[in-house]
Order: sequence, then C-alpha cells, then structure tokens
Amino acid sequence: MPILAPSILSADFGHLEEHVREAVSAGAEWIHVDVMDGHFVPNITVGPLVLRALRPVADDTGALLDVHLMIEQPDRYVDAFADAGADFITVHVETCPHLHRTLQAIRERGVRPGVTLNPGTPLSSLDAVLDQVDLVLVMSVNPGFGGQEYIEGSTDRIRTLRDRLDRLGSRAHIEVDGGLNPDNVRAVVEAGADVIVAGSAVFKGRGTVADNVRAFRRGWSSEA
Ligand code: DX5
Ligand code: ZN
Repeated sequence: MPILAPSILSADFGHLEEHVREAVSAGAEWIHVDVMDGHFVPNITVGPLVLRALRPVADDTGALLDVHLMIEQPDRYVDAFADAGADFITVHVETCPHLHRTLQAIRERGVRPGVTLNPGTPLSSLDAVLDQVDLVLVMSVNPGFGGQEYIEGSTDRIRTLRDRLDRLGSRAHIEVDGGLNPDNVRAVVEAGADVIVAGSAVFKGRGTVADNVRAFRRGWSSEA
C-alpha cells in the first residue's frame, strides 16, 4: 500500500496543525514540508520554525516529517532542519555540487537522506548516489508552486528509476511530487512509486481534508 505525504504548501496556515492532524488521522503517514528560498525556485515558503511547530504532531501520531529543500546551498541548512526534527531531508541534485558529501552529512545527523531532480534533469544525474539514499523524489511538476498539472512524461521516468533501483537491490522509496490526485495516482503507483505527495488535492480538494485523504487511498486501489 503506498504512503501518502500531504504537502503543507497548500494547507490553510491559519489552521495548519488542525488540518495536518486531520490528514494524519485519516491515514496520511508522512507530512511533506516544502521549503523554498525564492532563489532556486520563484517562491518563498517556510523554514525550520514551521517544521519545529509540526514535530509534536509527528511525535503524537507517528507520522514522519519529509522535508523537501528547494533552496540554494542546502548544506548550510542540514543541521537546522535536523535540529528542528526532520525525519527525511531531500535535496535537489541541481543545487549540490558536492552531492555525495551533502547526502553523507544528512545521514550523519541521523536523518534519512533523499535526492530529487527537476523534470528537465536527466535521471542519469542520480546514478552515482542511488546507493546512498533512502528516497528518490521524482518531480512531476516544475518546483515552486502547488496546483500545477502532472507532467505526463514523469510516469516513464518513475518506471525507469524503479528498474534501476531494483537492479541495484536498493530499498529506497520512490516518491512522486506534483499534480497528483485520486484520478491519476493509480498509474503512478503502478509505474513504481510508493510514496505519493499531494498538496492541493488534499488541502484544497473536493471534500474535507479527511475525505480527500480517503479519496487517494481509494484512487490508487481502484480498478481501472
Ligand atoms: C512543488 C512542491 C510540491 C507541491 C505539490 O514545488 O514540491 O510538493 O506542493 O502540490 P500539488 O500536489 O498541489 O501539485
Ligand atoms: Zn515537494
């Protein structure tokens, strides 16, 4: 059964804890925290303070804090996000000239390292580090904003990545992020994704947050 990781980017920040708790109570296992600096991507969001505010929710419920760093020079902030309680820290290959060392530094802090890449970046850019990560995040939109359309070519990239990880004997998660909803999620899971990020479909979807979480769980198990 895939893991659902609602992205707080689309949450109502006036009711953040309440809505995150609602999502977790309805079955979401991870909380996806999108960190943006206005340089690597044209948007600014949250930092370690908000992660720290969500740590009690994770402690109470067993949910994992899944931090997606869309920032320049992420090495400078690994300690701050580790101290704030991150369970996973995922960095963009496009922002890490010393990627092997950055991933090592994340793991040395007792945090599970992840790597991610933009839709225009070749999968081969990850080849040298696939054995070093616990998670590979496949961006299925250009990073920066919620509510975008899923980029269809992402499904083949997921399939290719799953094949590469299987051949390596890697147990790394494949997380997919961007434009996912209960209607398109099944194909993504069938291609090999086991963690699904969803922001607008959960926090700005058709029903309540709980309804929207349950709709995903139906969506990825529904018959075609
Ligand atoms: C985009 C973020 C995604 C985004 C997903 O840069 O990395 O996590 O919040 O939002 P939706 O699910 O609305 O596409
Ligand atoms: Zn994200």
